[in-house]
Amino acid sequence: MARYSLYLGDCMQWMDERSANSVHAIVTDPPYGLKEYSHEEKTKLRDGHGGVWRIPPSFDGCKRSPLPRFTVLTDSDRARLRGFFAEFAGRAIRVLVPGCHLMIATNPLLSHLVYLPLMEAGFEKRGEIIRLVKTLRGGDRPKNAHGEFADVTVMPRSGWEPWGLFRKPCDGRVQDNLRKWKAGGLRRISQDQPFEDVIRSSPTRPEERRIAPHPSLKPQALMRQLVRAALPLGAGIVLDPFMGGGSTVAAALAVGYDSIGIESDSAFFRIAERAIPKLAEFAAARHPAAKATQRIGKEGPNVTVGLRPPERAAPPALEAR
Ligand SMILES: C[S@@+](CC[C@H](N)C(=O)[O-])C[C@H]1O[C@@H](n2cnc3c(N)ncnc32)[C@H](O)[C@@H]1O
Repeated sequence: MARYSLYLGDCMQWMDERSANSVHAIVTDPPYGLKEYSHEEKTKLRDGHGGVWRIPPSFDGCKRSPLPRFTVLTDSDRARLRGFFAEFAGRAIRVLVPGCHLMIATNPLLSHLVYLPLMEAGFEKRGEIIRLVKTLRGGDRPKNAHGEFADVTVMPRSGWEPWGLFRKPCDGRVQDNLRKWKAGGLRRISQDQPFEDVIRSSPTRPEERRIAPHPSLKPQALMRQLVRAALPLGAGIVLDPFMGGGSTVAAALAVGYDSIGIESDSAFFRIAERAIPKLAEFAAARHPAAKATQRIGKEGPNVTVGLRPPERAAPPALEAR
């Protein structure tokens, strides 16, 4: 049975209280501007105007989701961001078992501010996973001078999202670490196909956004590929310390892995709590291998729901490749 536990609170404090060497992967999408998830900015987002959240223009009659405006960060915001990731990195490396992977969503403007603190805390950089996705970032002409500089774009229109791939150093050789800690590598897509570091991906589908109306919701088709790869032997616990609308936990549930999600905002927490089984089932409808079939109840103060694991033979979530 795949199980998950959700905690409403600060992930830093949660990691401080968690035993060392007790988590087998972290797959997460942190608050990249810090600012955008402050109380003040969330209020502006929920009111629908102002602040760091940019409401992109409608396109073909579709209303777009708000995007945080990372270019407005000041030097001191950047210093705070780096400090935040230093705090995160020190805690993350302690709770992970040796050889475990950490996959962290970022963006091309700010990735260095998280990669360096992770390496300084002792993580090995193992590359980057490139999510090929068309976004509405970049591609604009100079503000208030569109006509004058009609042939100029200030920044490229972004077509990719980097995910930093890090590993806590292994305890000896990879094979020894795999035997002892069940970690050290990434799960293959199949015997013939290794996990690859370029993933074609669509923006999150409107159906998923309706299930989990979080402004930064990641798509199940992507998350299931990442989460599945994160446990090389399919055993262990996946942690998402910045759970948001619950896409990592839902993906873990869909592929049959145990997971833990932490979220500090009570409104987002409630969204995730309701959305996770539905997102897992939504994915299941399109990926029969991960059909979530049985709800077995709740335990303790943290919601803990178990669903029957998928067939191990069929690798899930390949349709987006
Ligand atoms: C970028 S969003 C994650 C979105 C998520 N990947 C999804 O698909 O829904 C980051 C989340 O981290 C939460 N957060 C920020 N600081 C936190 C902290 N210290 N502990 C736990 N959650 C935090 C924010 O409230 C926000 O919901």
